[in-house]
Amino acid sequence: MDKKIALLGMGTVGSGVVNLLRENEDLIHSSSGVRFTITHILVSDTVKTRTADVSGIRVTDDITEIENADIDLAVEVMGGIDSTKDIINKFLKRGIPVVTANKDMLAVHIDELEETASENSAALYYEAAVAGGIPIIHTLQHSLNSNRISKVMGILNGTTNYILSKMTFDGWDYNDALKDAQAIGYAEADPTADVEGIDAARKTLLLARLAFNKKFTLDQVNLNGITKVDIKDIKLAESAGLTLKLLGVAEDLEDKYNLSVEPIFVDTKHQLANVHYEKNAVFVNGNMIGEAMFYGPGAGGYETASAVVSDMINSAVITAKAKNIPEEKGEPATELPDSAYYLR
Ligand code: NAP
Ligand code: HSE
Repeated sequence: MDKKIALLGMGTVGSGVVNLLRENEDLIHSSSGVRFTITHILVSDTVKTRTADVSGIRVTDDITEIENADIDLAVEVMGGIDSTKDIINKFLKRGIPVVTANKDMLAVHIDELEETASENSAALYYEAAVAGGIPIIHTLQHSLNSNRISKVMGILNGTTNYILSKMTFDGWDYNDALKDAQAIGYAEADPTADVEGIDAARKTLLLARLAFNKKFTLDQVNLNGITKVDIKDIKLAESAGLTLKLLGVAEDLEDKYNLSVEPIFVDTKHQLANVHYEKNAVFVNGNMIGEAMFYGPGAGGYETASAVVSDMINSAVITAKAKNIPEEKGEPATELPDSAYYLR
């Protein structure tokens, strides 16, 4: 099954998607029967040198060219809020499924977009929007849907966790750690959203929405970032056997919902105190499963691309099933990844 893709954005995540698709093309085809061809890429600067190979792909800064193109799936990894929502709406109205990593936009517009999707037999996928490579969206939507969930809590921003870890373990100061997170590609284009806790608030909202099956707005999230955190706070915490972490918490308190993002002193024996650098972790409390923890990379090009491409595959397979297209899996991959043999 061949799927034509438009990729909107080719920065940290978009380049990761292009490279992942090239590297794992045969593996993806043999396991899912899907082969993706990126036909168009939207960027803002068509002259910029790209780290990923874009030969044979139409790279444009003209969205109308893509909006009218013959594609099966749109993948949005460019950021932006209202104008990006309008673009996504147009694809969904054409019945084209959309994969997005854009929590800024989703935190404001997800209800509208899901409505458009359902009215037009399309679908919206956003695994990469929360906790990078950790499959927490699929988990809440599908794997834990037999539970009444009372609480979702975790470290949901890689940049701030990276900064706090650098300050705690490597003796870096706040500004150097932030610059490093930006250089690696963990931080948002404007890192204010990371350090002020807004990014974690958006993710907390998206998790709460799924966990409690309720609509929330961002002003319902009590918010405090890490901009006022001082090395003295970190040392004080250490001396008391505590570690400072920026936690997003969403709780169903029966009479109300409590959503917050704030720096919290965590006992060093708690698993969350041992989630460091760009790693994220999410705890989910369900009335059947009890407490479950999900841990992994919260940011980064390949790590996030992993989630984006899994959505692409799921979208292609689900669309094919809905249209009754028979699966045509390729030959099994001749080489299995190393991870199949070794636990590292
Ligand atoms: P990025 O490195 O800044 O890349 C953004 C890309 O989009 C660039 O290729 C840029 O073009 C293009 N772009 C931006 N605005 C555009 C516009 N108006 N028209 C056309 N092209 C435009 O961002 P990123 O880190 O890859 O993040 C992309 C999205 O994924 C964001 O929504 C972010 O929140 C989300 N996300 C990121 C991570 C991560 O670890 N970085 C993880 C999860 C989710 P040029 O290349 O020409 O400048
Ligand atoms: N800026 C975000 C973070 C990217 O640092 O967590 C992943 O959503």
